[in-house]
Amino acid sequence: MGLLEQKRHFSVNLLDWYMVNRRDLPWRRHNNPYFTWVSEIMLQQTRVDTVIPYFNRFIGNFPTVQALAEAPEEDVLKNWEGLGYYSRARNLQAAARQVMELHGGEMPQDKQAVFALKGVGPYTAGAILSIAFNQPQPAVDGNVMRVLSRYFLIDEDIMKGSTRVLMEELAGELIPEGRARDFNQALMELGALVCTPKAPHCLTCPVMEQCSGRIAGRELTLPVKTKAKPPRPEQRLVAIVEGRGAHRGRVLVRQRPATGLLARMWELPHVLAAPAAAGKAAGPLADEPAMALLAGSLWAEGFAARPEGLATHAEHVFSHIVWSLQVYKCTEQDQSNELPLIAAEARAAYDAQAAASDHSSSASAASELATTYSEQFHSVTSLLSNQSEDADLLDESPAADDAQLTLIGKGDGLTYRWIGPEDMDKMAFPNIFLKLISSYFAGAYDDVNE
Ligand code: ADE
Repeated sequence: MGLLEQKRHFSVNLLDWYMVNRRDLPWRRHNNPYFTWVSEIMLQQTRVDTVIPYFNRFIGNFPTVQALAEAPEEDVLKNWEGLGYYSRARNLQAAARQVMELHGGEMPQDKQAVFALKGVGPYTAGAILSIAFNQPQPAVDGNVMRVLSRYFLIDEDIMKGSTRVLMEELAGELIPEGRARDFNQALMELGALVCTPKAPHCLTCPVMEQCSGRIAGRELTLPVKTKAKPPRPEQRLVAIVEGRGAHRGRVLVRQRPATGLLARMWELPHVLAAPAAAGKAAGPLADEPAMALLAGSLWAEGFAARPEGLATHAEHVFSHIVWSLQVYKCTEQDQSNELPLIAAEARAAYDAQAAASDHSSSASAASELATTYSEQFHSVTSLLSNQSEDADLLDESPAADDAQLTLIGKGDGLTYRWIGPEDMDKMAFPNIFLKLISSYFAGAYDDVNE
């Protein structure tokens, strides 16, 4: 079989197959460039089944580019909550504002203009131009590269930029005249339903007859893909601070800074427990030093709270970091006492020890660290238990900050709030904190010793 014939076989049979087997997906029901755009952004790193309900709700709440451009960012993040990779939502809104300002609210059809939109890379630009406007542009993502690697038996590493360029050229050549919209979606559909990563369904594949990878018995060893760097492990201590007095029935949350990971989303206060050695998990910290460190860190941010006990362990995987979380239930304490000094000293000692141990993995350094943790714990907890006798005073304190409840922490100027269950619908939380806070309000940690 010649290469030209092999290409023709692929294009013709794949397109025929798609016209019969295409899934009925919400963004395929209307030919609306904005819907295509939103769906393509949501589908980055996320499965179709997961995206469908998010897409329907998002379009229900922000039906046009203008509606999205004019929405408060908090609302947009709330609608993205649980989908992850939140910078996608922020970029999408920034790009909607670009479309309003530069293109009068109409999605541009020009390649350069689409490419210039925030959050739109070569794949998304190709997908929008082909699906929305039927322009013969390739849309090559990891799934498409897998299909092409196998069918044409391409041994190049798909993590390399040069391989992507080669694949884009090839994918462009394969688009049948006037059929870019259907053909590109056919490629995506084949990758999703048939030419799957681990166990491809070659027997039902519409192009199996001329698939060089299958014929060579290479369908399971292609594509060639160098391993991405494993995510960096971080052990973190999380506080569920239960309010008292004016804050009874509420928990303390803080808003993340405006830039960086999970920017501007709300979370439970947490602190890095121990730096991991290169490529290795730091491992959990014993409860006593963990609670001391947490109390000290909370104070450094402006809050006196007493850790009561371990509520749960949790894990959250980001693309480049894995958080292992030790979650402690804490109670709010009277803010006016001696705790600050002790806690700040404990925190400083911890930081110094942690920095020192980072450079040395010896057993003696580890045991020194454990001793320091333990000392910190005793100084912080004895102070806290002394003051807890006065804790009832809190019940009589006036509800001074009860209306807006926006406090500025003393630490690095982050915004804190005491929230009740009713606030959960209004604020955007990363999934992991949404689960923890919802579990708390549902009573899951009620039996943590108090
Ligand atoms: N994956 C990425 N884009 C897609 C689309 N438009 N339809 C189905 N799966 C996809």
